[in-house]
Amino acid sequence: MRRLAVLTSGGDAPGMNAAVRAVVRTAIFRGLEVMGVRRGYSGLLNGELEPMTLGSVADIIQRGGTVLHTARCEAFKQPAGQRQGLAVLRQHGVDGLVVIGGDGSFRGAWALAQLGMPTIGVPGTIDNDIPCCDVTIGFDTAVNTAIQAIDKIRDTATSHERTYVVEVMGRNAGDIALHVALAGGAESVLIPEAPFSLDDVIRKLQRGVARGKKHSIILVAEGAGSGIEIGRYLTQHTGFEVRVTVLGHIQRGGPPTAQDRILASQLGAFAVELLRQGASAKMAATQGGTLVAVDLETVFTTPRQPDMRLYELANMLSI
Ligand code: ADP
Ligand code: F6P
Repeated sequence: MRRLAVLTSGGDAPGMNAAVRAVVRTAIFRGLEVMGVRRGYSGLLNGELEPMTLGSVADIIQRGGTVLHTARCEAFKQPAGQRQGLAVLRQHGVDGLVVIGGDGSFRGAWALAQLGMPTIGVPGTIDNDIPCCDVTIGFDTAVNTAIQAIDKIRDTATSHERTYVVEVMGRNAGDIALHVALAGGAESVLIPEAPFSLDDVIRKLQRGVARGKKHSIILVAEGAGSGIEIGRYLTQHTGFEVRVTVLGHIQRGGPPTAQDRILASQLGAFAVELLRQGASAKMAATQGGTLVAVDLETVFTTPRQPDMRLYELANMLSI
């Protein structure tokens, strides 16, 4: 193995830069050359590769987003696109690839591995929706960003004695909503992994009002429904003054937390070591804090859900 490449793909996540830095610096430390692929699989198909140096990853560990840029690329879902991607990598003399992204990006990584390009996935997504790992890069930052917003919303909710519905991201996973609800002291949390009834939410709101509670925050994971529609339903059925905030893409930006920078540094470096050992079609991850290599096929076939004990706890504490 002489030359590696690294790309970021799918939705960006704070900490991706720290992972890119770790890949590049570990590769160089080990005497390898390393190329950066711009714009994920889309850039790969366009041949957007350039050599990376120690200097090209200087001053990025603290920055959100991804200096390599990211993209979604429909063409890469097709075998023809994947073969073209392999050809581009071969033309550039690449003999190992690190893909930093989420589940979709890992499917592309797996396809390249099947075609004979040693490829390792590093889990980077704010959604935390990847099985077989403790946590994904970007989740901790997104949760902390959302908590800051919740604390601010609580100030104004208290002043005006209002009910707030706050919708957070997560695609089909309720992890962000659940962690933010627990850490932010939300009165209710709605996640796709647990059945809920809006009438139960209303009964809980009314119980709170009956004992003198003046404001409430209801956390909604985007996968559980539209915050705007839920807000409308609550307004119609309670007569309370309800406001809705959809936090949106601010959850994807900002400087990564220390936890995300450290995780990204560990996983980026480990991905390079795995390639050097001849591994392919694996995810570099931590389990119980220990670095592990998980078969991508296992990742694809393992069901996952958030820690439902936290869901029980959030409900108990917001009684
Ligand atoms: P994430 O990696 O965050 O889950 P996406 O699901 O949007 O994000 O996937 C990112 C990119 O990965 C897609 O735009 C596509 O290029 C590639 N990809 C997704 N699914 C597949 C697949 N089944 N086969 C090959 N490549 C895929
Ligand atoms: O996967 C990260 C994520 O931010 C999800 O939480 C969200 O559903 C989606 O990406 C939004 O994607 P886009 O950047 O296309 O708006």
